[in-house]
Amino acid sequence: MNGAEWFRLKAARDKISTIESAVADLLQATDILNVPAAPGRDVEARPSFLFPPKPKLSSQDGQGRLLHDVANIELQAMELAMRTLGEYPEAPRAFREELADLAVQEAKHLRLCLDAMDEIDRPWGTWPIHLALWEQAPLKATTCTSLIERIFVVHRHMEGSGLDAGSAILTRLSGVGRTRAKAVVQLILKEEVDHVAFGTKWYRTLCLSEGLDPDGCFSELLPRALANSPRTEKPDMELRRKAGFSEFEIQCLLRTHGFSI
Ligand SMILES: [Fe+2]
Ligand SMILES: [Fe+2]
Repeated sequence: MNGAEWFRLKAARDKISTIESAVADLLQATDILNVPAAPGRDVEARPSFLFPPKPKLSSQDGQGRLLHDVANIELQAMELAMRTLGEYPEAPRAFREELADLAVQEAKHLRLCLDAMDEIDRPWGTWPIHLALWEQAPLKATTCTSLIERIFVVHRHMEGSGLDAGSAILTRLSGVGRTRAKAVVQLILKEEVDHVAFGTKWYRTLCLSEGLDPDGCFSELLPRALANSPRTEKPDMELRRKAGFSEFEIQCLLRTHGFSI
């Protein structure tokens, strides 16, 4: 599968089944990929404020809706990893190889969600989806976003916020008993810590290699990322620390998010 064609595939399961060959194609490429303005979709996309209300988590509909929302995030996380491979062919080889593995792991997360949804007869497409994550990561071609900022936005801000949201979901699921949805969210959350840690490691490595102060850049990039991609969950300090956030960064997160320290 050609990397450029992969973004235009509409069916989520087709994207999963062809990811290995699309990753191999993007890893070989030396030219910047012309990424489409919007990825292919087989489900109606609309802004999330136009979504139907969320059913109670204790119901089958509630569990299905939760998995559907998580699947939509995993789909975009997979595509954003692939976008960075395509848009930053000049990035260090080791970074690109780790990112390729991350993209394949996002595909696995997406498949877990889709299979669990099929099992409870709430398949992909039962609810609408949004493209917010795709849209909130600025296209390199039009914004000249640096690789450092891309890593910050996708892996430290978006995926970092995903840890906060995942932890809050597990708390809400604690009264629901053992369900497939809960097992899926637990597994994904555990592996997402590594994705954020990957972002932390390469963010610092690239800042230092360019003679930039990682803390100073963090203070500059965070308000910009939050303005473009708002988040309301309180940062989960334990998971953020596990993912490599320093005390300076955690204090900065709490202050910038508007939570008291
Ligand atoms: Fe994921
Ligand atoms: Fe991830």
